[in-house]
Amino acid sequence: MNRPDKLRPESIGERTLSVHGGNHAEGEGAAIRVPIIMANSYHLPPDPSTMDWSNPEHLTYTRNTGINQIALQDKLCALEHGEDAVALASGVAGLHAVFFGHVSVGDHVVVSDTTYEATYKLWTSLLPRKYGIEATFVDITDHEAVVAAIRPNTALIATEVIANPTTKVADIAALAAIANEHNIILMVDSTFTPPPLYRPLDDGAGLVVHSLTKYINGHGDAMGGAVIGSTKLVDPIRSEAMVDVGGVISPFNAWLIMRGSVTLPLRLRQHQESALELARFLEADDRIA
Ligand SMILES: Cc1ncc(COP(=O)(O)O)c(C=O)c1O
Repeated sequence: MNRPDKLRPESIGERTLSVHGGNHAEGEGAAIRVPIIMANSYHLPPDPSTMDWSNPEHLTYTRNTGINQIALQDKLCALEHGEDAVALASGVAGLHAVFFGHVSVGDHVVVSDTTYEATYKLWTSLLPRKYGIEATFVDITDHEAVVAAIRPNTALIATEVIANPTTKVADIAALAAIANEHNIILMVDSTFTPPPLYRPLDDGAGLVVHSLTKYINGHGDAMGGAVIGSTKLVDPIRSEAMVDVGGVISPFNAWLIMRGSVTLPLRLRQHQESALELARFLEADDRIA
């Protein structure tokens, strides 16, 4: 869903995008925030006879797209330097959407051996059992092991930037180079490293996934997920995982996350200050190794 009025990083400061990104206020009297549209449907055009009812480009049915979802997606594109985004019901819905949209029966994936529990479960149990897709778990910091795990049918490499749990750190630029050389999609779960801290797409990742439930919303009152990347890679996810399978975010949650994300850069700065203070305190205590 490319929109000409999308606020772009070139036209507005990086941190200010958290405030204004995705709010399409135009002309006198326009609201500066996109209001909540709690509707399951939108008015049809005068002649709907030639309409494609599943087309997520048109506002017809909220499972296909909605005003608050579009606003949130546009903000996420601006924040992550992505061409396109799809907002979904949860972070896990985002992870599953990538796997469902870009991996098929007969494919193989390379997955970091340290991942959020749901990714681990999807690749140790659900997807192999239901679709016969094989996964190889590797130490994602061992690039020789990553290359060695790649097979002719490998479709995807999946990692987190800073892994949950254990905080193992992946070198996204190096992994992107490996993925691109082998024509494989690199999917990065960047939940622990939201913008402006880090942007995996700038380092060559193919798709970024966020649990919006965490830092991006930041207020503990809504669940959401997102996949961000090129239109070519996001489009199949939008039509399959959202329109066809129904993993859509609610308008209310999209609005809450849009609102929560206004303070994202400020909260991240405080998180880092507090973490540094805690680290210094622990470092100074000789009971701690
Ligand atoms: C790194 C990471 N990815 C994905 C998820 C899943 O997100 P959600 O709980 O919004 O489905 C989590 C949740 O804790 C997470 O920590």
